[in-house]
Amino acid sequence: MTGRITNYGSQFVDSADIKSVAKALKQKNLTNGSLTPLFEEKLKLFLNVKYACSCNSGTSALFLALKAIGTKENDIIIMPAVNFIASYNISKLFNARIYLSDTDKKTGQMSPEDVENCCKKFKLKKIKAIIPMYNGGYPNNAENFLKFKKKYGSYIIEDACHAFGSSYKFKKNFHMVGSCRHADISTFSFHPLKTITTGEGGLVTTNNKKLFEKIQKIRSHGILRTQNQHWQYDVVFEGLNFRLTDFQAALGLSQLKKIKKFLNYRENIFNFYNKNLKNIKQIRCPKRMLCQKPSYHLYIINFKKINLKTKIKFIKFMKKNNVIVQQHYIPIYKFKSFKGKFINTNTEYYFKSSISLPIYYNLKKEKQLHIINLIKKFFTR
Ligand SMILES: Cc1ncc(COP(=O)(O)O)c(C=O)c1O
Repeated sequence: MTGRITNYGSQFVDSADIKSVAKALKQKNLTNGSLTPLFEEKLKLFLNVKYACSCNSGTSALFLALKAIGTKENDIIIMPAVNFIASYNISKLFNARIYLSDTDKKTGQMSPEDVENCCKKFKLKKIKAIIPMYNGGYPNNAENFLKFKKKYGSYIIEDACHAFGSSYKFKKNFHMVGSCRHADISTFSFHPLKTITTGEGGLVTTNNKKLFEKIQKIRSHGILRTQNQHWQYDVVFEGLNFRLTDFQAALGLSQLKKIKKFLNYRENIFNFYNKNLKNIKQIRCPKRMLCQKPSYHLYIINFKKINLKTKIKFIKFMKKNNVIVQQHYIPIYKFKSFKGKFINTNTEYYFKSSISLPIYYNLKKEKQLHIINLIKKFFTR
């Protein structure tokens, strides 16, 4: 099958979503109305967390988190080398000292051992924040970072932008990523390629009232309205405008109704790929782990023989056949603008050997088969 290009991800917007947004556009308040707080209420229930503050992107969610914990110049922040650039860029805006930890060879994720190695190698004593990122939506070790809070006085901020809808098992129960059972703050993105979308959009969750109140204020100019008079307000914090509009919240509310369907569909693709690709001896498929229910944001395979040249050939071959596979991610230390310290022993291996195949709600079976057949063809040429 050839024809239209298949991207590695895509949004799904149906007529119910369009109706919901159209209705919101007819309301008196396009922003600061009732739909944004309603969306936040539903998100709180879904994630089983005390406080939820929506905002206009996953990037601003990370900004709100770092600002709320009082990040300042020379504060130490640890994050994985395999990462989207947002948490790095924001930490840089605060003039923090950034340490990129090594990551797992297969998943590109930072483990607690990687954090410890980073602390040992660079002799770090006090750490302002540790920012794990659940690459692909698989919440590996989600319950195991909290111990650093005591040891290094560190805040744990989960960059859960890939993991909306993911949960992990801890002491027989499943906990939603975003419930902040094992983190101070979680951040999410509602970009079109994520589990649900609001166009652009983001979310910060926490169980800490003080942090939440700060986050809410920073989202809206640091303004505090306590007076009776409509014209009166105080500014108690330096803040910005990171608000989500009410018509974006309307889209989010409508998308949230479909979350189970979205997650099931992605899981089925994961299983179908695993079943059909497992016999290709040149690649390794991702493992299903019983201790977690991921969002399946990405489906990442590893080439067993690490060879960047072969991987680039594969990317070109797939593109020639209208399938866009993607690198998640180029390690941050490879960028010109990077200033910081890093460990890259396993990260280099991951970078050379990993690639993401298309996975999204409504990716038809026919296309999934086309992708599988192309991969088989590539390795038998
Ligand atoms: C891991 C991760 N963090 C942060 C972000 C930033 O989210 P947004 O694009 O909504 O600003 C993204 C977006 O792709 C991401 O993948």
